[in-house]
Amino acid sequence: MKIAERIAPYMKQVEGVQQTGLYAYFQPVSRSMGPVVEVDGKELVMAGSNDYLGLTHDPRVVERAKDAIDRWGTGPGGSRFLSGNMTLHDELEERLAAFVGKKKAVVHTTGFLTNLGSIKSLMQPDDLILFDKENHASIMEGCKASRARITYFAHNDAAEAHRRLASAMEKYPEASAFLITEGVFSMSGDVAVLDQLVKLKEDFPELIVYLDDAHGLGVMGSHGRGTANHFGVTDKVDFIMGTFSKAMASIGGFIASDNEDVLAFLRNDSKTLIFSAALPAASAAAVIQCIDILEKEPERVERLWEVNRKVRKGLKEIGLCVDDNDSPIIPIHVGSELKAMKISRELFARGVFALPAVYPAVPWNHALIRTAFMSTHEDKHIEKVLDALSDVAHKYGICKQDVDSEGAMTSPEQPGDTPPTAP
Ligand SMILES: Cc1ncc(COP(=O)(O)O)c(C=O)c1O
Repeated sequence: MKIAERIAPYMKQVEGVQQTGLYAYFQPVSRSMGPVVEVDGKELVMAGSNDYLGLTHDPRVVERAKDAIDRWGTGPGGSRFLSGNMTLHDELEERLAAFVGKKKAVVHTTGFLTNLGSIKSLMQPDDLILFDKENHASIMEGCKASRARITYFAHNDAAEAHRRLASAMEKYPEASAFLITEGVFSMSGDVAVLDQLVKLKEDFPELIVYLDDAHGLGVMGSHGRGTANHFGVTDKVDFIMGTFSKAMASIGGFIASDNEDVLAFLRNDSKTLIFSAALPAASAAAVIQCIDILEKEPERVERLWEVNRKVRKGLKEIGLCVDDNDSPIIPIHVGSELKAMKISRELFARGVFALPAVYPAVPWNHALIRTAFMSTHEDKHIEKVLDALSDVAHKYGICKQDVDSEGAMTSPEQPGDTPPTAP
């Protein structure tokens, strides 16, 4: 099929939504002050950033990044394999490994590239991957590129993972088996049942556990050392992958392990490391500064949880459908994709930056407003967000009483609305 023909139905949908004025994505942020950003000349409280600790604006992080630019320049000039490897990358790898409790780490230029390159290098077509159905797209792309057999288990269901592993190992006894999960799931905010998942090793001692802790790093565990640390199972997790694009106030990614041989192999085999430019100096230096801060100032992580508790309490008082997670991501369940887009637009009008998560990021008709808060949010910011949400909650019928026994929202669309077409 020709490209134009293939993309036509998709573009028709996007353009349909754009014509309604409800298209919420690619908002042009002209300035960021951290918890407050400027869009179209208007200041909005940011309620959807992954900069969980607010470190992107910390003067120490900014200064360290500037110093690195002065010393190494703005770009790396090549991949790490060739001319772009800096002493800064080696230092960062050492600091990261120690921070998450592993012997070594390998840094890539983004988290996506870390998953894509590492998973493809680690897994082979004969291998078996146990895959949580909510795992991130970058994990999926890595698994697909490896051409290993993928077996899906229901989200966060260790018993089903066990059953599926048992039956797959009966069929393919020679396969290496990997279990891949996120630490904190990026859309639902669910914390992985990592303690239960690593227990599968009792029956399958050769099972290799790969944890994508993009949203757990800097947030979960002591000093933000991550989800494995939170559960006290770091020694049972074979690979910890993380990104710098969330709490670490930068961009980039890494994979850490106690298996130094495998990491040495990865360093020389990961195509996304060898054939992609290295992480710029400013980005690497910013992360080192974040680790310094996290090691010395655990109160920053504490403040994030304090903010989260306040927000969750406020959302529940309004009557919104919010899960009871210990997670920095607070999704608000709203039902249809159309309603989510309208609510997002109304929140913007009330001075709050909060975006909808719609199909295919979440199941059809289970759209969310994905909110996330930062250590640097002050009470006045939280109040503004809660006031705006309270207004729209009642207008759009997204409170607990509006949900039927199947978990679906009962409140109808407004007359005259044309919802986006179902998949
Ligand atoms: C779970 C998860 N893994 C990996 C990534 C990719 O990270 P990066 O933004 O560093 O490419 C993300 C980012 O959205 C993520 O949420």
